[in-house]
Amino acid sequence: MSQDKIQADFDRIARLLAEEPERPDRYERFLLAQVPASCQRVLEVGCGAGRLARAIAARGAAVTGIDASPEMIRLARQGSPEDASVEFVCGDFSVQPLGPGLYDCVLSAATLHHMPVAATLARMKGLLRPDGVLVLHDLRSLVGVGDWLRSGLAAVCNGDAAWWIRSRLRERRVVRAAWREHGSGERYLTMMEVRALCETTLPNARIYCHALWRYTVVWTREPVQASPVQASNGSHVTEMGRVTPWK
Ligand SMILES: C[S@@+](CC[C@H](N)C(=O)[O-])C[C@H]1O[C@@H](n2cnc3c(N)ncnc32)[C@H](O)[C@@H]1O
Repeated sequence: MSQDKIQADFDRIARLLAEEPERPDRYERFLLAQVPASCQRVLEVGCGAGRLARAIAARGAAVTGIDASPEMIRLARQGSPEDASVEFVCGDFSVQPLGPGLYDCVLSAATLHHMPVAATLARMKGLLRPDGVLVLHDLRSLVGVGDWLRSGLAAVCNGDAAWWIRSRLRERRVVRAAWREHGSGERYLTMMEVRALCETTLPNARIYCHALWRYTVVWTREPVQASPVQASNGSHVTEMGRVTPWK
């Protein structure tokens, strides 16, 4: 999908969201828990309307949220009190000038699939301080009947399914349609691809597989980079929300 189309889609979605009450994402608390409390400077890539960035700033960090959609950034700024330690920047992450080695945490939710994965990860890693933490959360494609069944079972058992149904019922039809049109034809990584990517690019990352077709990768930059390890040697953790029937 071209950058122009991404921007147009999210400008449209932002205008619709401006008329809705703000609601937390199902995985917001989980993501907040991955950001170390000691972080002083945090960058959120693809911050959207800024809810997560504000929540991190409320814990005392200075947060920069960057997003390619001017309407999303307008919404994010509107929702932020003036004295908040959070700033919102409109721009394409891949070309935005940002200080290398500056951030204690770089975080991104539901955005990586819009960008070239290898180049984006390299950029994110370069922006981290030694010991800085990268938190990547994105959509995943389900593969095969087994994946659907396991995800469905986990979603029912841990309450994700009920949450999802409630949130779909609350959403206006026009908002649902805008998300559907934006998402048609999008391609997401599978869990197998996420694991392969971590083995080559993010050694020793923790990998979480969530029920609602999402995954999270948490990786800490070492002062001296460790060499890649295999997923099969037990270095990777794979979890499924609160239910871990399959690892
Ligand atoms: C699905 S939304 C997720 C927003 C927010 N992180 C959330 O979880 O609610 C993806 C966001 O990524 C932004 N985005 C896509 N490509 C981008 C890029 N190259 N640079 C910065 N932001 C980008 C879009 O404008 C959009 O707001």
